[in-house]
Amino acid sequence: MSGLGVLFEDPALEARVSAGVEKVEARLLEATRAPEPFIAEAAAHLLNAGGKRFRPLIAMLAAEFGDPSRDDVVPAAVVVELTHLATLYHDDVMDEADKRRGAPSANARWDNSLAILVGDFLFAQVSELVSHLGPEMVRIQAQTFSRLVRGQIRETLGPQDGDTALGHYLGVVADKTGSLIAASARFGAKMSGAPADVETALTEFGERIGSAFQLADDIIDIASETGDSGKTPGTDLREGVPTLPTLLAQKSMDAADARLLDLLARPLTDDEELAEALALLRVHPAMDEARAIVQTEADAARTLLAQLPDNPARRALYDVCDVVVTRLG
Ligand code: IPE
Ligand code: IPE
Ligand code: MG
Ligand code: MG
Repeated sequence: MSGLGVLFEDPALEARVSAGVEKVEARLLEATRAPEPFIAEAAAHLLNAGGKRFRPLIAMLAAEFGDPSRDDVVPAAVVVELTHLATLYHDDVMDEADKRRGAPSANARWDNSLAILVGDFLFAQVSELVSHLGPEMVRIQAQTFSRLVRGQIRETLGPQDGDTALGHYLGVVADKTGSLIAASARFGAKMSGAPADVETALTEFGERIGSAFQLADDIIDIASETGDSGKTPGTDLREGVPTLPTLLAQKSMDAADARLLDLLARPLTDDEELAEALALLRVHPAMDEARAIVQTEADAARTLLAQLPDNPARRALYDVCDVVVTRLG
């Protein structure tokens, strides 16, 4: 599934975006090449397994606010997707995830060391690509990557003195995911030569829709029973990573929730306990509360689009806001 099934009312826009995404695909594959056949295979493993290519789509749509045919638009979209791809290699090590994009994760197929090193290789490939886009892009990429990694570190550490659990979680979400989706919009706008105020508005939009996207992902981790997310459901619960539904459920004072709260207080390494927690959570009102918060976040992103000139890309971005919510089913 690519592009999340976003609607393009305008056929010319759709043709430009799909041509752009095709070029991005070819360059992504090129970027995974290495002289050592094993490294090339491992680096292409998750790329070939699938993925929605949400970040290149955001970059392409943002580029529509300038001249989308400029040479640096496609490489900028490659940079954000390749950065994302590399983080997935590392994320699955941290989360001890065995499945990604419907395929075995790199750590499951090989081992943790290889998954970490292949992720590092991909980050190095990103550095090389972004160097061709100039020092400002190198600086933004570095700041974005720093923020993303700090988000992942803060998730690992958990709330510190003065943090509320929910405040910590929302900060982590913005840093680990909002940051790169904001950069995707910014890169597309910047490389197309869009005006500075438009670039700023698109960056703010990316940050907000990116956070909504991660909140939705965390709901899907609990709600998707079939694993059609391409990942193993319940990974966050297994690892004891708090997410929006669990944080909301933990606010419950209802005596009937005692068992669920007991389960949510620790990592759930036992398969039966994990299945029990998932079953209890799926029917808990916290799930609908969490969905309502995603809707609120997507609406906030939508409001930011009002600042942009009206064009077919803006209309497609409105649809992006809808799709982030409707994919929750
Ligand atoms: C997964 O991202 C990790 C998050 C930041 C939510 P995606 O949902 O974009 O994953 P792919 O690229 O489609 O596999
Ligand atoms: C992923 O977060 C965030 C980054 C890779 C930066 P998650 O751990 O929640 O994403 P999934 O669910 O494994 O895709
Ligand atoms: Mg993960
Ligand atoms: Mg993670």
